[in-house]
Amino acid sequence: MALILTIESTCDETAAAVVNDQLTALSSVVASQDRLHEQFGGVVPEIASRAHVERILPVVDAALTKAAITLADLDAVAVANRPGLAGSLLVGLMAAKTLALVCDVPLIAVDHLQAHIYACRLAAGRDVFPSIGLIVSGGHSNLYRCRTPLDFTPLGGTIDDAAGEAFDKVASMLGLGFPGGPAVQRAAERGDSKRFRLPRPLLDDDSRLDFSFSGLKTAVRYRLFGAGRPEMDASALDPQLTADMAASVQAAIIDCLVGKAVLALERTGYSRLCVGGGVAANRPFRERLEALAAERGFELFIPPLSLCTDNAVMGAIAVEKFKAGQFAALDLEISAGLERIAPQPISADA
Ligand code: KG4
Ligand code: ZN
Repeated sequence: MALILTIESTCDETAAAVVNDQLTALSSVVASQDRLHEQFGGVVPEIASRAHVERILPVVDAALTKAAITLADLDAVAVANRPGLAGSLLVGLMAAKTLALVCDVPLIAVDHLQAHIYACRLAAGRDVFPSIGLIVSGGHSNLYRCRTPLDFTPLGGTIDDAAGEAFDKVASMLGLGFPGGPAVQRAAERGDSKRFRLPRPLLDDDSRLDFSFSGLKTAVRYRLFGAGRPEMDASALDPQLTADMAASVQAAIIDCLVGKAVLALERTGYSRLCVGGGVAANRPFRERLEALAAERGFELFIPPLSLCTDNAVMGAIAVEKFKAGQFAALDLEISAGLERIAPQPISADA
């Protein structure tokens, strides 16, 4: 049975896992950097890459030890080389290349966003394609037509901030800490989501499958602290107002995400929705999707929380490439940004 070491360092989690070609994870190690970025209210790229350098070898070592194997047992090394923060990506890529070279095994390039969707395949334990893929993370909010695990066509995406970024920035304004998503979710449990009428940008425009969250962030700032460039002192906010704003923002973000996902299903005629990325850990978002799936009769796949936020197990998409003989050369490079692809027609498959 083939064994693959997968490495993930696209943002602020240093992760490694050992998976076999039957898609079983023998180990999974994630070293979170949340504590390092907390005081800045967001991920600081330079701090992230330095922390990856310190952690990558202990994390790989722990993944091998937990799987009770050594480097000599590996049949391939896989690494997420796109998209992400350049410095962070480079650390994982250099480690993976070095290990592939030393172990004399093939290197496999993993697309981090495809891996987030593949987490649905892993959790379901059966084929989930073709499907609409919705990726909602700190850096991305994208809709894809996923014909197979490796055939992704973009249908739309955010034109400014990502959904997770909106959660993080609003949490910072509300003084709720970092990462913002879980903090906003917790505060929202005590709040009234109808207290503040916030914008749902692009939701009414059914000619496109794009998102926009930066206006929402500005609207929150104006409601909390007034127009102009006021000082944003979260400590002066009333706790009930904070909870109500958290609930109102969460509801607005969920409405936008769910609205476009349903539109994508309608327009393409697909009947499966795969959701991945950190924001997919949001409980009210999951519950809303579950209710809609039951009501409209589409199949919903959302991984458990540990497979939603960044991890290396989802790098098991490398097994698909391993079986197809799709290996990367040792001069593989990182690609930090998303490739700009012209908007695709939102129609049913030809
Ligand atoms: O996929 P991920 O771990 O890293 C990236 O690739 O960006 O996503 C991180 C994002 C952060 O913005 C975080 O606030 C958000 O996922 N997040 C959540 C929740 N848990 C994590 N957002 C809303 N509700 C949550 N429960
Ligand atoms: Zn991610």
